[in-house]
Amino acid sequence: MEIEDVRDDIEKVLLTKEQIQRKIKDTARRVDEDYGGKDLVLVGVLKGAVNVMTALMNYMHTTCPIGFMSLSSYGEGFESSGQVKVRSDLNVDVEGKDVLIVEDIVDSGNTLHWLMGYLSNEKKARSVNVFPLLSKPSRRQWDIYVKYPGYEIEDEFVIGFGLDYKECYRNLDAIAVLKPSVYSQERM
Ligand code: IMP
Ligand code: MG
Repeated sequence: MEIEDVRDDIEKVLLTKEQIQRKIKDTARRVDEDYGGKDLVLVGVLKGAVNVMTALMNYMHTTCPIGFMSLSSYGEGFESSGQVKVRSDLNVDVEGKDVLIVEDIVDSGNTLHWLMGYLSNEKKARSVNVFPLLSKPSRRQWDIYVKYPGYEIEDEFVIGFGLDYKECYRNLDAIAVLKPSVYSQERM
């Protein structure tokens, strides 16, 4: 789905398809370089990370296992509940491996803070780093080391490229801000 398909629902385009692809391609090159000779595993957080994961692995010139986890901290609304729950546990072995977590966005940082600890302490990963495509620095509650930064954005609710509003717009190839009228009832 492209911007033209959602023109009536959005206030503005934040990142074009080209900007997103360029950032992921650059990151793939860095990952290829940094993890050469290491035991890399890519771990994605469902469902938001699916688009970033697919693009990243397709741009990489090296191969490695991938795995997914389903976590919940957000519910259906706008604010993180602060608690992370495992809906579905990791489906790949990362013990002694070098993990790169692929995420759509780091907002409060709750999810990544929890997940980095979980993969290190419970799953015994050798190293854990993160590539979140987006970051909202003004919302951060945890000091997280982001080895592969994506784009920094303002504190606005965004959709597209994996990010949803009520499970929709994940399949938009760009990232945009919704019109307030689309969600005005919930935000009051
Ligand atoms: P955090 O735990 O507060 O960092 O939030 C992480 C999760 O909240 C992300 O993986 C997204 O699923 C969701 N999220 C945060 N900001 C947005 C947004 O602007 N649009 C859609 N989902 C968001
Ligand atoms: Mg997510």
